[in-house]
Amino acid sequence: MLKGKSILLGITGSVAAYKAIDLIKGLKNEGASVSVIMTGASKHFVTTMSIEIAASPGPVVWDMFETRMAHIDRPRNADLFIIAPATANTIGKYACGIADNLLNAALLAFTGPVIIAPAMNWRMWQNPMVQKNMQQLASTGVITVGPETGPLACGEEGQGRMAGIETIIEAARKVFTPQDLAGEQVLVTAGPTREYIDPVRYISNRSSGKMGYALAKAARRRGAAVTLITGPSAVNVPDGVETVRVETASEMQQAVMQRIGDSSLFIMCAAVADFAPEATLPEKAEKSAIPSLKLRLNPDILLETSRLAKRPFTVGFSAETGHNIARAKKKMSDKKADMFIFNDVTKEGAGFDSETNEVTMIDGHGETALPCMPKEEVAAAILDRITSLKRGG
Ligand code: CTP
Repeated sequence: MLKGKSILLGITGSVAAYKAIDLIKGLKNEGASVSVIMTGASKHFVTTMSIEIAASPGPVVWDMFETRMAHIDRPRNADLFIIAPATANTIGKYACGIADNLLNAALLAFTGPVIIAPAMNWRMWQNPMVQKNMQQLASTGVITVGPETGPLACGEEGQGRMAGIETIIEAARKVFTPQDLAGEQVLVTAGPTREYIDPVRYISNRSSGKMGYALAKAARRRGAAVTLITGPSAVNVPDGVETVRVETASEMQQAVMQRIGDSSLFIMCAAVADFAPEATLPEKAEKSAIPSLKLRLNPDILLETSRLAKRPFTVGFSAETGHNIARAKKKMSDKKADMFIFNDVTKEGAGFDSETNEVTMIDGHGETALPCMPKEEVAAAILDRITSLKRGG
């Protein structure tokens, strides 16, 4: 998304200024080039030399009169302007059209997308003047990320921490992503479920949740409102995605049935445990009791949704051992899904907990085999196919 993009980064006088170094590294890892304008105050918190070493190409500029025309040249050559961290002072001046330093002048000379990541004490953030300035900027299309709530540099807790680096970078990726899922309400399930034998032991499977989380993140990036219903998973929740945490298949079933009516796209990616103990014991059982444990079949959530009078466009998953596409096709037909994603978990790079996946997409028009790719790219390809099918072909 950011490959080849030219990003202008403004750093202002907040204690979070040192985090700009990681932001620069992250943006460059994505293939973007980063040029930097600092304010005089920001140099109290991070040195121009550190930023220059991290950023290159081109020197870090901050003085309006030492670097003639930088307030025009730098923005003219940029695809995106990010201010991180953004202080109340810089925000206020930007909202009022003031250009009394190089950064604020460059902001006024920039005609492309702007992302600001505010960072300040929570009282300053809550101040009505700051809030009014933020509204003013939002009304002109400026994108805001954060601030987040947590411990602040002053020793207090509250909303004022600069958004995380990945959050800022994700906002940048979104700027360059066509918003072809805007207006869609996407419901995604992910991860395994846990079926408790007793308070200590459970039946589950090897699903990590990575594929489902990648789908939720990709759909959000394309402008959809996304709800993620997830079994236990260590993956970070994508920004801007409403997340519902469940443990058992029954909880997942309930969460899906509550929300599916409001959805326009349903992606059942979770690896629901097929069996559960007939009853969960209230106390830890003797191990001798386990081999004779009685199991029952769990509800089949996808099958249940197929019986609804009105169901959104529905996608199921079929993780098999071996190239058993016929089995995936049968599941797709039995569960009346519009599309199924097949993968052979025994293949190198396509198994559980892997960062990559190799899938075949099955729909009413046939099969499309994709090469082994990072799960984020697989998710993008699946959403491409879904949007094309929803448009009729
Ligand atoms: N699924 C579901 N509820 C279940 C089991 C599966 O909603 N109790 C969904 C999965 O999320 C997936 C699809 O059904 O989208 C196929 O799941 P899979 O486990 O491959 O198939 P099963 O129907 O469970 O058949 P089997 O385990 O016998 O292969």
